[in-house]
Amino acid sequence: MPTLAGKTAVVTGAGSGLGRAVAQKLASEGTAGLVLIDRDKEGLAATREAIAAPRSCDVQSRCLDVTDSAALAEAARKADAAFGGVDIVVCAAGIIGPFGKIVDCSEEDWLKVFAVNVHGTFLTVKHFIPLLRKRGGGSIVNFSSTAGLVGDPLLGPYSASKGAVTLMTRSLARNHAAENIRVNCVCPGSIDTPMLQSVFEDLGDPAARAQREQEFIAFHPLGRFGKPAEVADAVLYLAGPASSFVTGVSLPVDGGSIA
Ligand SMILES: NC(=O)c1ccc[n+]([C@@H]2O[C@H](COP(=O)([O-])OP(=O)(O)OC[C@H]3O[C@@H](n4cnc5c(N)ncnc54)[C@H](O)[C@@H]3O)[C@@H](O)[C@H]2O)c1
Repeated sequence: MPTLAGKTAVVTGAGSGLGRAVAQKLASEGTAGLVLIDRDKEGLAATREAIAAPRSCDVQSRCLDVTDSAALAEAARKADAAFGGVDIVVCAAGIIGPFGKIVDCSEEDWLKVFAVNVHGTFLTVKHFIPLLRKRGGGSIVNFSSTAGLVGDPLLGPYSASKGAVTLMTRSLARNHAAENIRVNCVCPGSIDTPMLQSVFEDLGDPAARAQREQEFIAFHPLGRFGKPAEVADAVLYLAGPASSFVTGVSLPVDGGSIA
């Protein structure tokens, strides 16, 4: 029996990397409904294509920006009309922002990182919690990072924004426990996705690129980058019945990088 049979899930950032892997994983566990959200239309189409959902799973795509409150409200209305509530909300949409120290970050870049990573997560849970309530409870899984648990000297603004997601998750867990809504987050280390590759591509020169890759790998005692499916497994655990007594947790999926 699939663990998510009959459940409806919403996944933001579903057009690439970890959001796509999560959508694939949830569909493979029997969800009856999936709402895929991303601002990248082609990415959403590719995810739809990649999902080996049974015919009984109704997969709907919503191309929108998670910083757009009105667009998320409309997506929630449509999800309500289609499914009469949702059971799982996964907030994976995020950006990495500029490399470097906080003091060197422009105000514009700082606001951009916080707009997507923090405000976008806030807006998503704000608009979808009423749909979880309609089901008598459910599970929210936010995307923080190991950089949201310890200060990252190389990615200062990103680290600050993910720290906010970690504590937003804990506050939400306390806010909604009495409504049977569990709220947890995953804290990935370096996972091989387009976002991680962008960190290396920025360097251009192949030798410098290879050196930075090795430096990043060296942070992980398991000696490699993680795979998107390994994070999706952790999200499935937090989203599904196996974690029924777990809320407010920040789960590293990081090859031991902050052990
Ligand atoms: N890959 C890693 O090593 C890593 C590590 C720790 C945390 N994370 C987090 O995991 C999440 C997914 O990252 P990923 O590696 O899959 O990145 P990715 O760049 O491959 O995918 C991110 C997706 O989010 C979408 N997105 C970005 N801003 C958006 C917005 N404003 N509105 C709607 N969609 C938006 C993008 O279009 C993209 O499809 C992010 O929150 C990221 O911070 C990733």
